[in-house]
Amino acid sequence: MSSIADIAKSSQLDVDGHDVKVECRDVHVYYGNGAAHAIKGIDMNIREKAVTSFIGPSGCGKSTFLRCINRMNDTIDGCEVTGNISIDGENVYDKTLDVVQLRRRIGMVFQKPNPFPKSIFDNIAYGPRIHGLANSKDELTEIVESSLKRAGIWNEVKDRLDASGTGLSGGQQQRLCIARAIAADPEVILMDEPCSALDPIATGIVEELIEELREKYCIIIVTHSMQQAARVSQKTGFFHLGDLIEFGDTEQIFTNPVEQKTQDYISGRYG
Ligand SMILES: Nc1ncnc2c1ncn2[C@@H]1O[C@H](COP(=O)(O)OP(=O)(O)OP(=O)(O)O)[C@@H](O)[C@H]1O
Ligand SMILES: [Mg+2]
Repeated sequence: MSSIADIAKSSQLDVDGHDVKVECRDVHVYYGNGAAHAIKGIDMNIREKAVTSFIGPSGCGKSTFLRCINRMNDTIDGCEVTGNISIDGENVYDKTLDVVQLRRRIGMVFQKPNPFPKSIFDNIAYGPRIHGLANSKDELTEIVESSLKRAGIWNEVKDRLDASGTGLSGGQQQRLCIARAIAADPEVILMDEPCSALDPIATGIVEELIEELREKYCIIIVTHSMQQAARVSQKTGFFHLGDLIEFGDTEQIFTNPVEQKTQDYISGRYG
C-alpha cells in the first residue's frame, strides 16, 4: 500500500516531466516582526536529482529563501515565514514535524567552511552518532570513510583522521563540510556560496563533486558566479528585491532570458 507521501510524490512532476523534490508555494519572509518584506510570494518546483542555482544581486533574498527550506529562519528572532514548502509532498512547516530530523534530511553547506573544532573523524561521525545511523563502531568507521571518499578528500586525510578538522586548508575544510553533510544521509543539500572562500583549483574540485552528487541528491546552490551557475546547474532562478523574476533551464536563462531584468543582470548591467 502506498503512503500519502508516495501518492503525493508520484503526482509531483515539473513541466518537463521530472520528479519534483521541493515544492514552494506563495512563500513570504518578513524580518523585524513584519518591518521588512524580504521574500515576496515565491512559487517554485525544485527538481529531484538535479542542481538548481539561485542567482541575483546582493540582498535580493537568496540566502533567506534557502533558509526557508530547512527552517533555519526559525532561529532568527523576529523572522516570519508564510506560505507552503513541502518535501516529497510533506509539509516542512507542519507543527508536528521534528525539526532535528528535517535538518538531517536537508544538509547545509555554508559560505565559510565551518568544521567543528574536533578531529576529522569526529566531524564526519557527529551526525551519524546523534541520529543513530550506525549500529557499531565498524559501521560508523565505514560511514566516515565512504563520506570522505564521496566528498573527494579521503586520500588527503586518511592518514590523519585524528588531526583537527580546523587544521586543513580552506578547500579541504569545505570538502570536509560536504562530507559531513553527506554522512547524515540527507535527501536535499543546500549550499550557500560554497566556493566563495576557495581558489579556482579548490572551486573546480568542489564543482566536480557537485556534479557527482547530483546523481543522488536534490542540490540547491546560491552563487554570485554566473559561470559557476552555468557550469553546475540544470535549473536557475534569478531573484531581485525578494521576487523570483525568472526561473527556468540554466541554458535558457543565460542565453535567452525572457525578462529584461534577467538580461540586465546576466549581461552585468547591475548587481
Ligand atoms: N537576520 C536578518 N535580520 C534582518 N534582515 C535580514 C536578516 N538577514 C537578511 N536580512 C535582509 O533580508 C534581505 C535579503 O537578505 P539575504 O541575506 O537573503 O540576501 P542575499 O541575496 O543572500 O544576499 P548576498 O548575496 O549578499 O548574500 C536583505 O535586505 C537583508 O538585509
Ligand atoms: Mg546570501
